[in-house]
Amino acid sequence: MTATIGVGLIGTGYMGKCHALAWNGVKAVFGDGPRPRLVHLAETDADFARQRADAFGFERATGDWRALIADPEVDVVSVTTPNAFHAEMAIAALKAGKHVWCEKPMAVSLRDAEAMAEAARASGRIAILGYNYIQNPLMRQIGEILDAGSIGIVNHVRLEMDEDFMADPEALFYWKSEASSGYGALDDFGVHPLSLLLQLFGPVTRVFAHLSKPYADRPTREGNRRAVETFDIASILFDIGEGISGVMALNRSAWGRKGRIALQIFGSKGSIVYDQERMNELQLFLADGDAATQGFRTILAGPQHAPYDRFIPAPGHGLGFNDLKLIECHELLRAIAGEPARVIDFEAGLGIERAVHAMARSQAEQAWVSL
Ligand SMILES: NC(=O)c1ccc[n+]([C@@H]2O[C@H](COP(=O)([O-])OP(=O)(O)OC[C@H]3O[C@@H](n4cnc5c(N)ncnc54)[C@H](O)[C@@H]3O)[C@@H](O)[C@H]2O)c1
Repeated sequence: MTATIGVGLIGTGYMGKCHALAWNGVKAVFGDGPRPRLVHLAETDADFARQRADAFGFERATGDWRALIADPEVDVVSVTTPNAFHAEMAIAALKAGKHVWCEKPMAVSLRDAEAMAEAARASGRIAILGYNYIQNPLMRQIGEILDAGSIGIVNHVRLEMDEDFMADPEALFYWKSEASSGYGALDDFGVHPLSLLLQLFGPVTRVFAHLSKPYADRPTREGNRRAVETFDIASILFDIGEGISGVMALNRSAWGRKGRIALQIFGSKGSIVYDQERMNELQLFLADGDAATQGFRTILAGPQHAPYDRFIPAPGHGLGFNDLKLIECHELLRAIAGEPARVIDFEAGLGIERAVHAMARSQAEQAWVSL
């Protein structure tokens, strides 16, 4: 009989649904590992929790997340609440002996992120962060192209992450404009490009950042205006080790950009270009052969790019954002089983947090900050 693993889910918004879809689908897609048993779901009130539990397929529902943590049948907890709750919930789950799958950013303060890493170490449990973009099969392919040396020695990386959900100056003030959520674009967006850099090249070694606010205030539900406490735009220079310089541009108020994570990697023998808005293709330029016929070629995702084949046998049909989360869920289960897994755990995640806080310090001091 297939083993099961008891799942708890805290939060059922955008990411909560995404985790629920992953837990519901992972066994069907991959076929291996334990069968997730959706045991307990927590929301801010009991009625809403019950509604969501019915929709997502969870057995029990609660308006008190601590009841979920205390449930002995929960083995792993998805934390998908706003940033300010991550540390408290993840640490409580680890202390109760649960594995943790926590959304990014890890925490708002560096002290909380350190406490989370410490709690993970002390627990001996698996604790990972929701860095889904590293799970794109084409990101693995980019890693293989780099490892094979096909584009030579990499000397420059450019990353942009832009969306327009905060582009309207009259959009309502909500938790993402509060300082309790963090710095703004830096930790909401910056952590994702940092996760890609970490996976492909290693940690950034120094940073210089400039943060800005496109709008000073926003309307509230109550009909007033409230000062925006976070920076929706960030521009960062960075280095990775000795040889690679980089630029990162982040904007949560970039009209027309919907889910852009544009990555350009330049090497001594070629270049790679990728954009999350076209997540099933990458562009490769190799500086070889006849210059007259050189040019970028498009590589379309297909079953040869594992684990695309687990979803669909046909090439070019495309994976979606939720599929990346499902792959992340499978990697988490591999880590729990003691198998090698492509995950960013709390230890590696702490490095990303240190980079974010170094960027904020750079803005405050108007100087390069080394890590
Ligand atoms: N990995 C990604 O690509 C990605 C994308 C979007 C958001 N996120 C992260 O996911 C987290 C949640 O963001 P979201 O967009 O899903 O937010 P959201 O507002 O859509 O959902 C948050 C949910 O948490 C619930 N909640 C709040 N406090 C709670 C509590 N004390 N107990 C139980 N439930 C509670 C809310 O009622 C809501 O349903 C954030 O940390 C965000 O940075 C990650």
